[in-house]
Amino acid sequence: MRRFWPEERSLHWLLAVTFLVLLATGLILYLPVFAELAADRRLWKSIHLGAAIGFWAGLVVLVAGDTGGSLRHTAAEVDRFDEDDVLWLRWAVTRRGDEPPQGRFNAGQKLNTAFVFGLMIVFSVSGLLMYLQETDASVRGRTSAILVHDIATWIAVPLILGHLYLVLVNASTRPSLRGMVLGSVRRDWARRHHPKWEADE
Ligand code: HEM
Ligand code: HEM
Repeated sequence: MRRFWPEERSLHWLLAVTFLVLLATGLILYLPVFAELAADRRLWKSIHLGAAIGFWAGLVVLVAGDTGGSLRHTAAEVDRFDEDDVLWLRWAVTRRGDEPPQGRFNAGQKLNTAFVFGLMIVFSVSGLLMYLQETDASVRGRTSAILVHDIATWIAVPLILGHLYLVLVNASTRPSLRGMVLGSVRRDWARRHHPKWEADE
């Protein structure tokens, strides 16, 4: 079954690559173990800011080119939270009873998407402030912007590790990787994990 259109896959891989570059270069700038590597601070900072600009520029291009509306359609789907989603979240915590049926995305994936895009906004606003405060002495409050940026990093790290575990390691969810690489998934996998979507299709 077709799971992701090229526009959705392009957006995902744009986000994944730029985010991982931002995380790696951010940690080089931040963690004392990389102090020696970070001696050339200007280089790592330029890569960090380049990846941030690359993400937003790529997003604008993808949204502008989304004439078929597949990104808008996906955004609306992720934004819709029904009763089964609430039951699914309760089930995910208690693991009691059968898994409530889910649509194309389960409630955890919907929350993950909202969190990641929310974090990108928090990172960008605090990062922009850090940049402006460094280049313009009249702008104050650099330490709070750094604090927000650092807290966002520590929220992002477990979120990404959890995501990578689900898509690369965990046997029952790993088949989704095929959907993000080739665009399609097996119908029996879809029926098991996303039965409402499989039935609709
Ligand atoms: C998306 C837009 C982003 C912008 C505009 C941005 C901008 C910046 C800027 C200007 C700095 C300061 C560099 C310096 O003066 O040393 C910085 C540092 C940093 N960034 Fe970002 N960043 C963004 C995203 C991210 C992301 C996604 C992560 C991690 C997942 C991240 C993690 C870090 C870390 C850990 C530091 C070092 C902070 C410190 O020294 O305490 N950033 N960023
Ligand atoms: C090598 C790294 C990565 C791989 C292999 C990967 C793989 C995947 C796959 C297979 C899906 C589709 C799941 C489905 O069928 O529904 C997905 C969804 C998603 N990915 Fe990634 N991903 C990677 C990195 C990232 C990064 C760094 C981010 C952003 C911080 C990210 C954000 C998302 C989001 C928001 C979704 C949709 C919601 C969800 O399924 O949780 N991914 N990813």
